[in-house]
Amino acid sequence: MTDSIRIARDASLQSRNTFGVAATAPVLVEVSDASALPALFADPDYGGSLSLVLGGGSNLLFAGNPEGVVLALTGKRVSQPDLPPDSHASDRTIVRADAGVEWHDFVMRTLRQGFCGLENLALIPGTVGAAPIQNIGAYGAEVREFIHAVEAFDPATGTMHRFDADSCGFAYRDSLFKQQPDRYIVTAVEFSLSRKPSLKLDYAGIREELDSLGVTASTPQHVADAVIAIRRRKLPDPAVLGNAGSFFKNPIVPAAQAEALKSEHDALPVFRGNNDDTRKLSAGWLIDQCGWKGHRDGDAGVAASHALVLVNHGNATGAQLLGLARRIADSVRSRFGVSLEPEPRVIGATW
Ligand code: EPU
Repeated sequence: MTDSIRIARDASLQSRNTFGVAATAPVLVEVSDASALPALFADPDYGGSLSLVLGGGSNLLFAGNPEGVVLALTGKRVSQPDLPPDSHASDRTIVRADAGVEWHDFVMRTLRQGFCGLENLALIPGTVGAAPIQNIGAYGAEVREFIHAVEAFDPATGTMHRFDADSCGFAYRDSLFKQQPDRYIVTAVEFSLSRKPSLKLDYAGIREELDSLGVTASTPQHVADAVIAIRRRKLPDPAVLGNAGSFFKNPIVPAAQAEALKSEHDALPVFRGNNDDTRKLSAGWLIDQCGWKGHRDGDAGVAASHALVLVNHGNATGAQLLGLARRIADSVRSRFGVSLEPEPRVIGATW
């Protein structure tokens, strides 16, 4: 084994998941250079027993302990690769980041360098490697718009792959990497960013926030500042109150069902779905209507500021949080006939 690999047994994962719930990995392998992966997976002690790739731990719930090997990629290189001249066409540039780079640090670094695009995605917890997996999105932007390519390791064949954006299967909070969670390990992401700002200010609250910050002619950095301010107000800080952001995806339902619900509930927010026949509803609104905001069962609760966010007030277990999530989903199903799906990956239990 090379010095880019560190191995620990019976490793606590409590500080490695933003819910802060207790969990133990039988074997935790940290790899700082993805070029060590083929040799690692060729070793019979590790190859074949991978159960989980851990990024920032901000999008998973440990309802039980993972089995086998948990892998964390800790590489943090950021570079502008030498690519054919047309890849750096005119005002665009490619920036490549290792999977282990903190997402928010990366966003701020690209903005400081004058590269625009990621400003609406500021302050999302997690790592660069996790960003394409669930196609992170916020405030009118999704990361897929800025992804040039994803590099991933295939443990089954021991080879590296490079997926261009079109072959990643991106959809709302979804990708081929999420569909087949154990098939590929994302090792690095290449982003296509612009030097010319093209600001997205239409998502509810952004213009108001810029006004209240006293900004008239906005820059991408101002948009990031506005998004950071809104997120800090609405979403609990995982360093203070354990959470994994939105616990449920906004449900996508047939257009006819959305219309029927809208005729009964005038205030129901309805958004564009995946196509003309579907609509996206606001899970936060549905849960709020069922009275869950601020609810608490022991240390497992719902944030007082946002009905979509489950929180750990201290010593909640993953199983308690999952139990609360199930009760919430049951109440939404019986009141509105809409099924909710968790957004984070649930380990050690099935939804
Ligand atoms: N709403 C309520 N009550 C609540 C929360 C929301 O009624 O307690 C209603 C309001 O009508 C509000 C609407 O829901 O206008 C939408 O709320 P918000 O703007 O907070 O967005 P969201 O749909 O709840 C999504 C993402 C968030 C992202 C925000 C902002 C999902 C599952 N969640 O939340 O992403 O930050 O939009 O773009 O798509 C995450 O994925 O972890 C996450 C936090």
